Amino acid sequence: MNTEARLPVGVMISGRGSNLQALLDACKGADFPARIVLVISDRAGALGLERARDAGVDAKTYPRGDFASREAFENAITGAFEAAGVEFICLAGFMRLLSADFVAHWRDRLINIHPSLLPAFKGLDTHERALAAGVKEHGCSVHYVRPEMDSGPILGQAAVPVLPGDSAESLAARVLAAEHELYPRCLRQIAEGSSSAPASLG
Ligand code: GRF
Repeated sequence: MNTEARLPVGVMISGRGSNLQALLDACKGADFPARIVLVISDRAGALGLERARDAGVDAKTYPRGDFASREAFENAITGAFEAAGVEFICLAGFMRLLSADFVAHWRDRLINIHPSLLPAFKGLDTHERALAAGVKEHGCSVHYVRPEMDSGPILGQAAVPVLPGDSAESLAARVLAAEHELYPRCLRQIAEGSSSAPASLG
């Protein structure tokens, strides 16, 4: 597929960037219908920034503390993405809540991956809470972003078993492996247009 035909995607990270890596790897595929054109981190030194640069993708840091307000911070990010031609954003371990204005600007062009089978276990420490609740199945979800945290129409989910003797770490590792399969699959669906924007779902 020629470059121009691929959906130009921006990715927002705060840290390790293993999901970013899965997306970068998928984008190397000759028939993958998306390309990552810019990665933005709110934290300097995020490992994901190196992953982007190693893949030849532009990567920028926008520390929240460099901006007078959240609005200025988010406007700078939107400006950088738009200047780069980004049409769709993937949040991949971006650890800040985004304002309703930012979410509205990118509505139905902004997705997130969350390490639980939503709507269960929104928020942090999902693996610890899944173990504490005794669920037999856990997993991850890719969803459109709405102003309320970890809500929004679900694009895809992958389930993994919770095994006897699991720790939060062993469960997290199993879920993370599923995340790395799920996120590229969902981005492909979107970029191929097979996953229509959920306008009617509110
Ligand atoms: C992942 O578990 C993702 O589901 C959550 O944050 C974590 C990011 O990990 N939103 P990584 O930076 O992609 O390795």
